[in-house]
Amino acid sequence: MADDKAKITVIPNGPLQVDCGEVELVKPDGTSQTKKGKLFFCRCGHSKTKPFCDGSHTAEGFKG
Ligand code: FES
Repeated sequence: MADDKAKITVIPNGPLQVDCGEVELVKPDGTSQTKKGKLFFCRCGHSKTKPFCDGSHTAEGFKG
């Protein structure tokens, strides 16, 4: 994967997997953090570490 091109994969019954170069994540309070590599974003709504997946989708039986 080239550093300038991100790849987003929808994991069945789980998070969005984002493979990317450096990315800036801006939080609702305006602060930001820089991330790089493989990221997993919650799409079930149950994560306690949103926007990231914490594995709660399994216990919640998320389907999608
Ligand atoms: S998708 Fe994993 S906790 Fe929501």
